[in-house]
Amino acid sequence: MRTVVITGGTDGLGKGLALHYLRQGARVLAVGSTPTKGEALLAEAAAISAAGRAVFVEADLTSVTAAKELVATVESACSSVDKLILCAQRYRLFGSRTVTREGFEHSFALAYLSRYVLSHGLRDALESSQRPVIMNVGTPGVRLGRIHWDDLQLARRYSGTRATLQSFRANDLLGVAFAALHADTPIRYIGYNPGVVSTGMPHHLPQPLRAVTKASFALLAASVPKAVAPMARLLDEPPDAPVSAYRATRQVPLKGHAFGREAALRLHHLTRELVDAV
Ligand SMILES: NC(=O)c1ccc[n+]([C@@H]2O[C@H](COP(=O)([O-])OP(=O)(O)OC[C@H]3O[C@@H](n4cnc5c(N)ncnc54)[C@H](OP(=O)(O)O)[C@@H]3O)[C@@H](O)[C@H]2O)c1
Repeated sequence: MRTVVITGGTDGLGKGLALHYLRQGARVLAVGSTPTKGEALLAEAAAISAAGRAVFVEADLTSVTAAKELVATVESACSSVDKLILCAQRYRLFGSRTVTREGFEHSFALAYLSRYVLSHGLRDALESSQRPVIMNVGTPGVRLGRIHWDDLQLARRYSGTRATLQSFRANDLLGVAFAALHADTPIRYIGYNPGVVSTGMPHHLPQPLRAVTKASFALLAASVPKAVAPMARLLDEPPDAPVSAYRATRQVPLKGHAFGREAALRLHHLTRELVDAV
């Protein structure tokens, strides 16, 4: 039986993929920080006769320690992992800078560090499966934001938008570094930008942005089932290239500074030091 691990698997795109793979007969470990969302997913799994194959794992992935514990939990529960899908995200576009208990800026911790820890930490479990894939869901192909090398935690010049965009660009580089460091791995690393999709994302925005985003989603956004279909096709038939990026169904060329190998390895080594120090 295939095993699919999905962070942010209790809402939005992650939940859509969780239900898709449960319907396909896979075992799904869905990770989220809210138990009621996990319970709702398990109830939906039971309704499609997949209760025995659905697992909710509660974890707050703003914590590097929690991400490391999640690696251990998955490794003890599963002899192999076929697909790792990274969707956990909570936008903080407004408000003041928030720092986690471990001292990291919130977006850097949740949207980037957790994905770094899980991608590298679950490599052995993934390499034990037939056709392993990591899909890191973000915004590859969007030329906004950069890595603030001299201030990764944005302690000097913070804005929520700057932090969110930096986490996206860091994830672009994460895939490049992963492939560069593990040249012989069978794992296919896919950066994926779904476009605008109607998910739970606006619920956490402040008003009036929440109302505006919900209204524009109703007009412009794709539904989760529609958005999930091309994601599942890529996950099931990954490209030959060790690392690739897609924006919906279109491949994004890995060109320019967003995907530079030197920058990717530089960020990898800086991140390794940060993660090892926790
Ligand atoms: N929707 C779009 O239009 C769009 C566009 C481009 C890219 N994306 C990307 O797609 C991915 C999924 O987004 P979405 O729109 O599906 O989001 P969503 O509906 O808001 O779902 C986010 C998921 O992340 C989990 N999460 C949030 N904080 C967490 C934490 N501290 N620890 C563990 N899990 C946490 C949530 O569960 P809990 O609430 O229980 O923690 C939820 O399951 C994100 O990476 C996003 O950047 C989305």
